[in-house]
Amino acid sequence: MSTLVAEPPRAPASLVRPWDLSKDPEAAICPYHAAAKLHDGPPIFFVPGEEDPRARGLGGHWVVTRYELQREVLQNAEVFSSHLISGFSRLIGEEWPLVPLELDPPEHSKYRMLLNPLFSPAKINELEAGVRQQAVDLIEKVRGDGGCEFMEAFGRPFPVGVFMRLMGLPLEEMDAFLHWEENLLRGETLAARAEAALSIKNYLLGLIALRRARPTGDLASFVANAEIDGERIPDERALGACYLLYVGGLDTVAATLGFTFRELAQRPELQRQLRADPSLIPDAVEELIRAFGVVTSNRYLTRDFEFHGVQFRKGDMVSIPFGVASRDPKEYPDPHLIDFKRENTRNISFAAGPHRCIGSHLARREFKIALEEWMQRAPEFRLAEPPVVHSTGVWGVDRLKLVW
Ligand code: HEM
Repeated sequence: MSTLVAEPPRAPASLVRPWDLSKDPEAAICPYHAAAKLHDGPPIFFVPGEEDPRARGLGGHWVVTRYELQREVLQNAEVFSSHLISGFSRLIGEEWPLVPLELDPPEHSKYRMLLNPLFSPAKINELEAGVRQQAVDLIEKVRGDGGCEFMEAFGRPFPVGVFMRLMGLPLEEMDAFLHWEENLLRGETLAARAEAALSIKNYLLGLIALRRARPTGDLASFVANAEIDGERIPDERALGACYLLYVGGLDTVAATLGFTFRELAQRPELQRQLRADPSLIPDAVEELIRAFGVVTSNRYLTRDFEFHGVQFRKGDMVSIPFGVASRDPKEYPDPHLIDFKRENTRNISFAAGPHRCIGSHLARREFKIALEEWMQRAPEFRLAEPPVVHSTGVWGVDRLKLVW
């Protein structure tokens, strides 16, 4: 006689609730207002379902909503692993990690230390003139037109150009990079996304081989020839690093720029403040980064672990939508208000703990330059039509038509 043993429930019924922002009509207007409704519920809950392939058949995944709790997850990399959280290599049936994001300690810190100097303030100062020139060129192209679709004119090409400059790639190849990025992140079918993932991999492997044969002093040459403990890093790690530098700084910057310019277009008084006093721009950048966390990260449990009264099991997936922390009323009074004079702008939009964004200083500089040049060169702008936004993957803006 066999005894049927019921599978123990993954989560207590009180913590199980469906949540799919992309199906919430409010999110089509503003993902941040729609997601902030979670703050009326439990700080940790379980979303049933298999819709996310990265949930690895667990029957669902956990979501952590509160700023403080998200920070705690991010700071504990021993328990919350980031191994293969993005799924980019799995798209093409492989399992190499993005470097250093998908490496856990202790390997993570070796690669992080290797890459840190590439993003030092001094390195970013070196890039400044080129990045500014690129912003100026893009704005000047549309300035006389009385308006533009911001994402196409600036939001997307600007960060791609910065990446290409960083990697030492010819700007004439920008169209190919824009096309790959679009298909990798927003391709209509899985096959289209996989094809882009493979094209990027092949391009980067070719680049690594080229820079090994003839180093040129750019970032690709550095990664291709880097050594750890006296040995050249394996090809797979060099690929993972170049790949992350490509995907890490494109959509994130484009999305934050998109939400920023949407806000400025909806609230011309904010533009007036920045035009009247450009010295406000660095504070404005901090407040906008605080208010518009665009990334949702994930972690896997390395062991059973009780977290704030909730029992996680080894292998469980925990999702951390930073856009929800951005609007946590426990951390920020009046969280939806964009206020350039806000006192507390500490945030986790760039994450926290060992994987805290290595490109955060570069990203801040990109935003500062973008705001300075737009405020100086373009007249006051407003929305020409309601913007189109999305809340899947990196939350972002698809279309933002501006007039001036
Ligand atoms: C607004 C712009 C950006 C945002 C919001 C952003 C956000 C993030 C977040 C949330 C993480 C941590 C993810 C996690 O722990 O799961 C991260 C890591 C990382 N980001 Fe960024 N990022 C931005 C721009 C950039 C840029 C411009 C670059 C480089 C060119 C970059 C390169 C990286 C790298 C290499 C990591 C991995 C760090 C590690 O694992 O130690 N990011 N970023």
